[in-house]
Order: sequence, then structure tokens, then C-alpha cells
Amino acid sequence: MYREERLGEADEEALGFTTSLEEDEWIFEADLAVDRAHLVMLAENGLVSREGAREIADALARVEEDGFDELQGEDVHEAIEGRIVEFAGREGGRLHTARSRNDEVATCVRIAARRDALRVLKELLDARERLLDVAENHVDTLVPAYTHLQQGQPTTLAHVLSSHERRLARDAERLLDALERLNRSPLGSCASASTTLPIDRERTAELLAFEAPVANSMDAVSSRDFATELMFICSSVIGSLSRLAEEVVVWTTSEFDMMELDDRFATTSSIMPQKKNPDIAELVRGKAGTVHGNLQSGLSIVKNLPLSYNRDLQEMTPHLSESLRVAAESLRVLSRAVETAEYREPDMDLEVGATDLAEALVEKGVPFREAHALVGDLSRRGFGIEDAADALEEHLSRGDVGEALDFHRSVELRVDGGPGSSEELIRTGEEEVESHRDDMRSFQEKVSSAHERLEEALAEL
Ligand code: ARG
Repeated sequence: MYREERLGEADEEALGFTTSLEEDEWIFEADLAVDRAHLVMLAENGLVSREGAREIADALARVEEDGFDELQGEDVHEAIEGRIVEFAGREGGRLHTARSRNDEVATCVRIAARRDALRVLKELLDARERLLDVAENHVDTLVPAYTHLQQGQPTTLAHVLSSHERRLARDAERLLDALERLNRSPLGSCASASTTLPIDRERTAELLAFEAPVANSMDAVSSRDFATELMFICSSVIGSLSRLAEEVVVWTTSEFDMMELDDRFATTSSIMPQKKNPDIAELVRGKAGTVHGNLQSGLSIVKNLPLSYNRDLQEMTPHLSESLRVAAESLRVLSRAVETAEYREPDMDLEVGATDLAEALVEKGVPFREAHALVGDLSRRGFGIEDAADALEEHLSRGDVGEALDFHRSVELRVDGGPGSSEELIRTGEEEVESHRDDMRSFQEKVSSAHERLEEALAEL
């Protein structure tokens, strides 16, 4: 439609290469909202007559009813405008007053990203809650704290799961923070250097639930750091999940035998009848590659662009929508797999208590370096309670040795941050989840009340 007068028909392959229509389904709803807010503002400022505005609003309703699949064109913006002109005639041609696809698409992408980021946030909070629920049932379940994937010190499953939750908690904070930065409206920036027509950018911002307009119009149409920031957060989330997924893969092996997935969250083999495989965890690990790749793509796409808008930016959008979708799905399915699994205490060598034994020697006045050497020597010879008691009798009674190597006792004794504080860590996590939920709800309420205001303003046309 835009080409008709000046350029005529496009080459079919050139059009196929240029179009974003298929990917634009992600911003279809957002584009209708942007059109409506812009229309209300144009009518309120006398740039479209009330009557013309009503005709355009009706045409928009028809576009929505017909659905995305009816659209044709270079992208969703052109396709919708084409239908508006088809339905509303000459008046339809006023909708694009004081607007360009450049500010339009930037606004649509922010709206769709906001919606999907809120979904990631919800899944993050639900996932954290599931991890904490499992942790609550396992404050006494002894497991080794691994370093270098070798048994290091005794700890509890609650302590391990809380550490995964703590990492996701920071991602939730990052997301809440990024949402504030994202929530500014590019609309009214037009192609790049704004317009001479008397529009009201505050008004469209408000109707679309943005905090304010983006201050500089060139920045508004050319920047996608809100997108790379979200893709980083998705990368961080899936990186965290991938580490949890790796635990699932390792814990469910017969060698570790610490975890058994619920049948509903496991897969089997086409040939080996005995197999129960953790494919979900492996897919999360694999999808981390996709999400990390999207971040790299996004950073590369913007890195050398001259100001302001360039079509390169279109390439960014599918990476962003994919990262948000994969992060939300992965959070949900992996946390449900962890929630429904069964856990078992693995066999632990007495040696896992070596650090506790060395610390018992320190309590009796032995310098740590000497204690380390004494216990190190013992572990080369064999680490039974009897051997230990004989070897260390100068400093520790048999009772002392027994106590030091009582793992339940030693985990309780550890200072803040250790397994002994698991209950407190779980409580902190739950409190933070609740407060993040409050923040999320108040953000969502702002979005829905703006949506209502937009509906009312449309009805008043
Ligand atoms: N589909 C385009 C995008 O995603 C919309 C903007 C097109 N603007 C232009 N000047 N060609 O960025």
C-alpha cells in the first residue's frame, strides 16, 4: 500500500525477504491497542473528526474480529492500515497522522514484551515457591554439598534447593527493575525527529499504561536496550535453570540415586525398556543455548547502527519473543518436575565429615593447618570412627569424634547461611516471593486500568 504511487509492485522475492508479517503475530494485539490510543488522542486534539474517529474505531473492531490470519502486507502495521482504509475509506487515511511505523513498532514491541515479561515474572515466582515447598519437606534430608562434583561437606537438600531459589530471586528483582525502565512510550516520535502537528504524547502514554513518553524521539525509535536487557534476564534465568537441570540429570542417575522423577515428567527409550530419562531437564539445558544465542544476536544487531531507525531492528523482535516464551515455559515445566519428584538421602562416606572433624580439633586448640594435616593423613589411611579416635586421641575423646562425625548434628551447628539456617532461608524466600507478587500485581493493575480507560475513551468518541 505504501509503495503504490511511488514504487509500484515489489519483486516477490524482495517482498518475501523484507516482510515481518508472520513474526508480527506477536504484536498484533499490541498494534490494535496502539492504533486505538493514537486514534483517541488524534480525535481529542482535533486532528481527526469525532465522526471520522468512530468510523476508524469500527474498522479496527472489524480487523480484530477478522483476526490476524486475514492480514496481508509487508508487516502488521501496513496490513492493518490497509484494511482500515478499505473499511473506512478516505477517513481511514487519517489514522497514520503524526505517526510512523518506526514509533509504532517500537511501542508495540514494548507492549508485547511487557506482557510476556510479566508472564516470565509470574512463572519465576511460582517456580521459586515450588522449590521452597520441596525444601520445606527436606530440612532434615542429608545430602553432600559437592565441590568439583565430589562430596565436600554434609548439608541438607533444603539448603541446596534454597540456593537455587536465591539465584532466581535475583532474576525476579532484575525483571521488576527492567520493567520500570521498559515502560516508557515511544509513540509520537514519528519517523525519528517527531512532528509539527499538535499531538499529546502524555495522553497516548497514559492510555497504553506507560509511565511517561520516552524523552528523546530519536532514542525512542532507535533503541532496543529494553529488549537486550530482557534477553539478558532470560539468559540469566535459563542459565540458572540449566544448572538446576544439570542437578536433576545427575541426581537421577543410578550412581547418585538421589532423585526419582514422577512418571509424568520422565521419558523412556525406544529400545531400552528399563529407561526413565530426564529429557525435560536436558531440553532446558539445551534451550539455554537458544536463549543465550538470542542475546548475542540482539547485541550484535544494534551494535553499529547509525541513528536512528534502521530496518535491522526488525530482526531483533523474534529473538526477544522467543527468549521470553522459552524462559517462561522452562521455568514452569522444570519446577513442576522438581516439585513432583521423590528424593532420597544418598550414601555418604564418613569422610564427608572431614572438615567438621578438623574443626573439632580447632575447638580443642589445635591450629587449623595442623588439624587439616592430621585429618588429611587419616583420610589416606581409612576414615572409620575407631581409626579416627585412635589417631586423634591426644586431642579428642571417642565421644568427641562421634559427635563431630554426626552429620545431623554438624549441619545444625553451621553458622548463618549454612544448612542450619535453611528454615530461615526458606522463610526469607517466601516473604520475598510475596512482596514480588505484590509488585507484580500492582504493575498488572496499572496495565488493566489503563486498558479500561482506553475502552472508555473509545466509547466516548
Ligand atoms: N516491520 C518493521 C519493524 O519491525 C516496522 C517498521 C518499518 N519501518 C520502516 N521505516 N521501514 O521494524
